[in-house]
Amino acid sequence: MNKRTPLIVANWKMNHTVAESLKFATVLGKQALPKEVEIVICPPASSLQSFSIALSDFGGTVKLGGQNCHSEESGAYTGEISPVFLKELDCTYVIIGHSERRRLFGENDDIINKKLIAVLSLSLSPIFCVGETEGERKENRTSAVIKKQLENGLKTVRRDEMEKLVIAYEPVWAIGTGRNATPDQAQEVHALIRTWVSKAYDDELAGALRILYGGSVKGDNIGELMKEPDIDGALVGGASLAVDSFLQIINYGA
Ligand code: PGA
Repeated sequence: MNKRTPLIVANWKMNHTVAESLKFATVLGKQALPKEVEIVICPPASSLQSFSIALSDFGGTVKLGGQNCHSEESGAYTGEISPVFLKELDCTYVIIGHSERRRLFGENDDIINKKLIAVLSLSLSPIFCVGETEGERKENRTSAVIKKQLENGLKTVRRDEMEKLVIAYEPVWAIGTGRNATPDQAQEVHALIRTWVSKAYDDELAGALRILYGGSVKGDNIGELMKEPDIDGALVGGASLAVDSFLQIINYGA
């Protein structure tokens, strides 16, 4: 049994108005939440401030995260959000390098590396996403693709900064498709990631690193996924949008 604190992160993507976000917060706030699981919600940027106020009522059990940020702290970047603004809004985490950012918004490993550095320099915790496409898996390139993403994304990240970082393994073919990776498939890649970190840094850091699985996580598959030795939690999209389905995940399907 590992000693890493389980982490469940809700990634709402571009869903929920401010009113809907607050409704979610109000309902969630009335639930008994498990103390041993760290819970993070990443609402749209427009909901961060009101959500942050609502969250303070929960006594800090639920934390807040951004879904993305720019690598610069300020400047002429129309439409972007600075990591400084996220920090000001009480975010603890920021998702970086999600496959939708890579695929739909042209983010490459170099941009992702700069964002990781920016987030870490403000002592925020990045949730650094990696994952292969269906084609890459079919061509048996999963391991090479993941290693390259780790190598390029983390190339200038220091050991002390790594202590704040979380990695999310999100196979692109499993995101929003209802086809989750099997626990075996996910475990295999999680173990590969931990071994890579151990070689690039050291065993102690690799042993403490939290690696989340993401891609069609639901109440009925989270329990099996969490039994795997290298799966420390989940990054959840669709099933995090309603309180009921999110609660099932937080409670590992119970
Ligand atoms: P999903 O999304 O749970 O809807 O598959 C996961 C993610 O994109 O982080």
